[in-house]
Amino acid sequence: MDKMPGHWVLAQIGKRVLRPGGLELTHRMLDVLTIGPADHVVEFAPGLGITARMALAANPASYTAVERDKSAAAVVSNYLTGPHQRCVIGTAEETGLDDACATVVYGEAMLTMQPLQHKKRILDEAARLLKPGGRYAIHEICLIPEDISADLVEDLERDLVRTIRSAVRPLRKSEWSELLESAGFALQRDFSNDFQLLEPKRLLQDEGLSGTLRIAWNLLRNRSARKRVLEMRHAIRKHSKHMRAIVLYAVKE
Ligand SMILES: C[S@@+](CC[C@H](N)C(=O)[O-])C[C@H]1O[C@@H](n2cnc3c(N)ncnc32)[C@H](O)[C@@H]1O
Repeated sequence: MDKMPGHWVLAQIGKRVLRPGGLELTHRMLDVLTIGPADHVVEFAPGLGITARMALAANPASYTAVERDKSAAAVVSNYLTGPHQRCVIGTAEETGLDDACATVVYGEAMLTMQPLQHKKRILDEAARLLKPGGRYAIHEICLIPEDISADLVEDLERDLVRTIRSAVRPLRKSEWSELLESAGFALQRDFSNDFQLLEPKRLLQDEGLSGTLRIAWNLLRNRSARKRVLEMRHAIRKHSKHMRAIVLYAVKE
């Protein structure tokens, strides 16, 4: 438990929604992606499959998830039916899927964790998979304000890496936009909300009352998980003025 990446600590205590802007930004992302029966959808890093289930409810022509963690892939596979829905175990940098196989690609809470070169490779891979005019959305953490100092960014990253035990490299909105544009996307929309993964109000919104009570109960019983969660919440609170959850929606040119 002590060395486990933060998102798996949260999953172990029963947290299901593991993206920075919660279900609120996920709904807004899906609204703008307008997935329908003609779409071929690729999801990068579905985790526990929460968004996968929402995307599948739109009945796309096909759905392919690319998840590098075998046990998460097994959870997602439980939601899939028929020959046109599958979860591939692999990385978003190199999915092995065909060129121009998708009309929609999205990924949540996965790019922020990658070093810059991997971020670029993942965006290039999304562009390769999409047909011209295809839609791409990301749901990540952005730094605010745009002129945040390098010292503050260093301090923020150090605190998050130490407590989450995973790489955390958020970017300014302008930097996310530039990366998308360099990969051949035209930015269409963006929206943001507070990054409040572990605050009571967001927990209730995302996990419901019974989910929140289950998490509280698990925390009471598990001292090492409680210590990790409180450390993470402290670091996120400390830097909350300089981080927001953001969705960027772009179209392949
Ligand atoms: C913080 S969780 C987010 C899961 C889910 N997208 C969500 O928002 O609830 C990160 C997930 O990304 C997966 N992941 C991280 N980097 C990946 C990569 N390069 N390719 C595929 N999956 C990746 C991890 O295995 C994990 O399931």
